[in-house]
Amino acid sequence: MDWKNDNGEHFESHAEDFLRPVYPWLLRDLENATERSLRGMKILELGCGPGFMLEQFLAAHAKKVVGLDLSHKMLLRARNSGRAGAAQLIQADACNLPFIAESFDIVFSRGSVFFWNDIERAMHQIKNILKPSGTALIGGGYGLSTPQVYIDAIIQHYALQPKSKIPRLDFTILQAIANKIGGKTEILQAKKRGFWLKWQI
Ligand SMILES: C[S@@+](CC[C@H](N)C(=O)[O-])C[C@H]1O[C@@H](n2cnc3c(N)ncnc32)[C@H](O)[C@@H]1O
Repeated sequence: MDWKNDNGEHFESHAEDFLRPVYPWLLRDLENATERSLRGMKILELGCGPGFMLEQFLAAHAKKVVGLDLSHKMLLRARNSGRAGAAQLIQADACNLPFIAESFDIVFSRGSVFFWNDIERAMHQIKNILKPSGTALIGGGYGLSTPQVYIDAIIQHYALQPKSKIPRLDFTILQAIANKIGGKTEILQAKKRGFWLKWQI
């Protein structure tokens, strides 16, 4: 599957079938990384796709939730499914963020950074729009706190599929970019689960 050229329909049904049970655990990963409740937080998701995490942020009583995606079709799916709820949706490129400085407590992104064509530019902008002491959690995969039973189901499913066309990204490169820009970084990762770059400004 070529996610980049997907019109949203395939990803949404894949997420419905295999990733749905994982999203609450991605929220848990975020809470663990920030070491605080998301209640009252201003959260931006980069590459929100059809909105499965937006739904989680709203349920966690974030004060403001913004979903940004390059794809209008993905955003329509987030809106029409009802998952985006009260979240604000913005069609834009993660490399060109339309926000003023220090707008968000948290920037979250899962499964999208692999497609950004100027990661360094995006990372500078993420730092700029985060409030002082804000946190970014950027990565991909199925979560570090997700119960193994869900991970096994996903792995089993992919074993029967043609190889994915998701571009590879070495997380040490992502971390090196963040380190160059400033703040405190940590890579959280586990085999067959994926990784997060935790970046505290
Ligand atoms: C694999 S999907 C992941 C969707 C969602 N984060 C999830 O986990 O359910 C990747 C998403 O990133 C979006 N995307 C790719 N490049 C982007 C960019 N440069 N800026 C913003 N969004 C982008 C795609 O349109 C797609 O919705």
